Amino acid sequence: MGRTVYLNGEYLDEAQAKISIFDRALLFSDALYEVTSVLDGKLIDFKNHMKRLDRSMTELNYPKLLDHKDLELFHRELVKKNNLKEGVVYLQVSRGVAERSFDFPDKKTELTVTAFTQVKDLLQNDAALKGIKVMTIDDMRWKRCDIKTVQLLYPSFAKSSAVEKGFDDAWMVRNGYITEGTSNNAWIIRKGTVITRQFDNLILRGITREAVIECAEELNYKVDFKNFTINEAQSADEAFVTSATTFVTPVIKINKSTIGDGKPGKFTKLLREKYIEKAKKIAI
Ligand code: PDD
Repeated sequence: MGRTVYLNGEYLDEAQAKISIFDRALLFSDALYEVTSVLDGKLIDFKNHMKRLDRSMTELNYPKLLDHKDLELFHRELVKKNNLKEGVVYLQVSRGVAERSFDFPDKKTELTVTAFTQVKDLLQNDAALKGIKVMTIDDMRWKRCDIKTVQLLYPSFAKSSAVEKGFDDAWMVRNGYITEGTSNNAWIIRKGTVITRQFDNLILRGITREAVIECAEELNYKVDFKNFTINEAQSADEAFVTSATTFVTPVIKINKSTIGDGKPGKFTKLLREKYIEKAKKIAI
């Protein structure tokens, strides 16, 4: 018996969960997803993840939205059935099964809804403790990065290129400015000001980003929403990334430049602590 996973209303052993080869997720990457972190067996910021899912579905003309109560029920059930204490629940919603054709099917398809759990050390891990090294790479994604689709081949390619070169991740760059990490938002701290790119169609509006903005304000840090260049990032006092899987993780090197003294920054550490405290408080 492997994990228990969720597929269209059923809980199945992972080996038994099968979907059609005509599913639009497979043929067109016509699917959306959310990753919700789990601490102490509880879901972090679940409601905001589901609100973002609604937005993604609306932006791409999905035929209907999903019921949040239902979504919460099977997320909780998966956590319980898999005895997940720390890790994530991955949720994917595809437009469903239809004859292969580029236009969206006019006959309303049944959405394909799948979900599974992954065990992950979110609190204690090497990256959080020692920081990560990132390299920069051209951002070659489409221009609707604000929608959380499963079109992840370019981010996957970018991350693999970084790992091949001895880095942990890549920060993507468009028109001379950092957009975001392959699966996280990018931040720097300069002269006491916390800086992250303003929200637009070229980045995902991270749920963790939103919570970390609140944490920074609660800590009385000044937060600036503005584009920053590779040079500005390399000469920053501190740098870090945020996401549901990394929380707040320090960046200690960008390309060949060491950030600060090459150790996780002081403010970054405080933000991480504050975020984890907040995440536990709002967990359901
Ligand atoms: N990625 N930017 C991108 C491109 C992402 O893929 C993610 C999340 C984020 C951060 O969003 P959030 O704080 O809501 O997790 C920013 C998830 C974790 C993933 O793909 O696994």
